[in-house]
Amino acid sequence: MRPSRRRLGLLLGCCAALLFCLPVAAQEHGDKLYQPSVGQRGKDVIWVPTPNEMVTAMLATAGVGPNDLVYDLGAGDGKIAIAAAREFGARAVGIEFDGQMAALAQRNAERAGVGSRVKVIQGDIFKEDFSSATVVTMYLLPELNLRLEPILKKMRPGTRVVSHSFDMETWEPDERIETSSALGYLWIVPAQAAGVWTVDLPFGQGPAELTLTQIHQRVQGNIRFGGRTMPISTGRIRGSEIHFAYVQPNGQPALVTAKIEDDRMSGEVAGVGGELRRFDARLRAAKR
Ligand SMILES: C[S@@+](CC[C@H](N)C(=O)[O-])C[C@H]1O[C@@H](n2cnc3c(N)ncnc32)[C@H](O)[C@@H]1O
Repeated sequence: MRPSRRRLGLLLGCCAALLFCLPVAAQEHGDKLYQPSVGQRGKDVIWVPTPNEMVTAMLATAGVGPNDLVYDLGAGDGKIAIAAAREFGARAVGIEFDGQMAALAQRNAERAGVGSRVKVIQGDIFKEDFSSATVVTMYLLPELNLRLEPILKKMRPGTRVVSHSFDMETWEPDERIETSSALGYLWIVPAQAAGVWTVDLPFGQGPAELTLTQIHQRVQGNIRFGGRTMPISTGRIRGSEIHFAYVQPNGQPALVTAKIEDDRMSGEVAGVGGELRRFDARLRAAKR
């Protein structure tokens, strides 16, 4: 979808909210001290609340649970952060630029009984540090998602990022989220695998050299041992897990499933017949 059509999506969402939800929205989102209006200006994007059904679907798809720290970037009235705490037992932080909105979101969290687990910070999503998040939620704009992409990609592998409505162009989502009225996307921050790895191979095949290139969660490359170079196929990373396949010199397929932790990769190679052998590898030269 082109950015102009996407922006139209937000506008339509806003119009629908204005037409159908405003009388409810005022009671649902505001209080005696402050009544925000759907569509009101924000620093980089207007305020339109994510529908309840999508809030639940985003948090469920991200697998949010009590061990998570959820950051909602552009928290509005706090509904995503509050749902993360109330429905999923997580701790949550909302970052909201508008001071009145941030204060309202904190009061909403207190009223919902989750004030001790939800903190709303008045701040700018491009300045605040949210690197400790295990889950990041957003309902922003396509260009804001793209500005955030390099920051998100540097987060811990396995961090889940969920966005209502807007994707991240070339960084394809790991899952799509569909509700009756909206679309959303989930990405799982991939480990960095690009570079040259020295592999201690099972099956008595000795040391090997694994060379990987990586675009987002996709990996390509080859594995070299016994004087032969075999291309790898179907290479994919999900968080810290990597999967790929290659054809062994004897013509048999080998399927690799491994975990990456910094410069270490360890996992299993499944040969023909399903037998599993463990292997370890070390990153010799990273390619960033
Ligand atoms: C589309 S609303 C989404 C609200 C909430 N996340 C939800 O899904 O219901 C975007 C919110 O981001 C806030 N915002 C805009 N630019 C911001 C920035 N640079 N830093 C923090 N908040 C911002 C707006 O004030 C608005 O409340």
